[in-house]
Amino acid sequence: MTTATNPDPAVLEEKIGVAWTVMGGLANAHMVHIGGTLGLYRAMYGAGPLSSAQLAGGLGLAERFVREWLYQQSALGVVKCHAADSFELSAEAGLVFADENFPLTLAAVIPHIPAWFETGLGAVEAFKTGRGRPFDGMGERGARILDSFFSGWNRAVLVPEALPKIPGAVEALRRGGMVADVGCGAGAAPIAIASAFPDATVHGYDNSVHALRVAEEARCAAGVTNVSFHNPDTDPLPGIPTFDLVLTLDCLHDMARPDLVAAAIRRAIKPDGVWFIVDFDASPSPHENVSHPMGAMLFASSLLACLQSSASTPDGMALGPTGLPEGRMREMVAAAGFGRFSRVEGLTHPMNAFYEVRP
Ligand SMILES: C[S@@+](CC[C@H](N)C(=O)[O-])C[C@H]1O[C@@H](n2cnc3c(N)ncnc32)[C@H](O)[C@@H]1O
Repeated sequence: MTTATNPDPAVLEEKIGVAWTVMGGLANAHMVHIGGTLGLYRAMYGAGPLSSAQLAGGLGLAERFVREWLYQQSALGVVKCHAADSFELSAEAGLVFADENFPLTLAAVIPHIPAWFETGLGAVEAFKTGRGRPFDGMGERGARILDSFFSGWNRAVLVPEALPKIPGAVEALRRGGMVADVGCGAGAAPIAIASAFPDATVHGYDNSVHALRVAEEARCAAGVTNVSFHNPDTDPLPGIPTFDLVLTLDCLHDMARPDLVAAAIRRAIKPDGVWFIVDFDASPSPHENVSHPMGAMLFASSLLACLQSSASTPDGMALGPTGLPEGRMREMVAAAGFGRFSRVEGLTHPMNAFYEVRP
């Protein structure tokens, strides 16, 4: 048996590697933040090979520091270093690091990196008390950070690609249907739907007052009038069949009592309405979730936000992203009175599953 005084050299080396990967992640995140906020990625996107002097000169920055950043980004694998002083951001890297319209972009998240770390410091208390903080515990910054993670997909994929895969959804919206987005956050999805379907009436529900404020600000900026936002704590979903389409996007596992929300959705949906659920494609096996390629980031996000929110009330179910694998989701919606549950065919995502649910 190996002990602290007699460690297995190979395992020790591997653990040292893990430790430095952690510290590397922190340092790399700093450098990505610098690249985003100084406009370095944007300047390189589509520009072809550049020398450090060309890049620095175009942005009015100091060449020696830009050169060091380019070496760092080349070492990280973001930038391609062609020769001693020739650097390029590939089209693919540009999509991920510089293009806010790409569904899985990091560009919108980059400005929030330091704030994300700071808001995370408030997550520690839950380890002592077992009671998590609701999303509002992260303040308005928290609402903006979350929006930056999800708005790319909500803006670029939801309307053109996802809704057409749900039979009847687009037709209902074109006919001037009623839509509810429950757990709508800062409103990117309801605003995208309202903009694309001017005859539809869209209601966004969220119990974060910060998210609702950011959503209303975004609605005004977008100039759409067929969407409104509500706090279900004071303005609940109607208790009679009202909605043709209900959405819950990346939020059921964040809710303290998604079972009660599912029951409220059942009361509010029309007999021929459809509920579109996006949630993490979890396995019922913890081992499989731990070995998910994004497992470490996933559980970290849970500890910073999802599990916190779901454990924020005394009766909270403390789910987190792995809390609603397909079987449990199916049972929950069946218990709420829905008769049909299936995966949406033809939609793929590195982390999420897509379900359509009907009364
Ligand atoms: C991860 S965010 C997703 C937001 C949004 N759907 C998006 O795609 O950007 C989860 C949201 O669920 C909201 N939420 C949590 N519990 C809720 C509840 N019981 N009713 C309504 N919203 C809730 C949170 O305030 C937060 O805005």
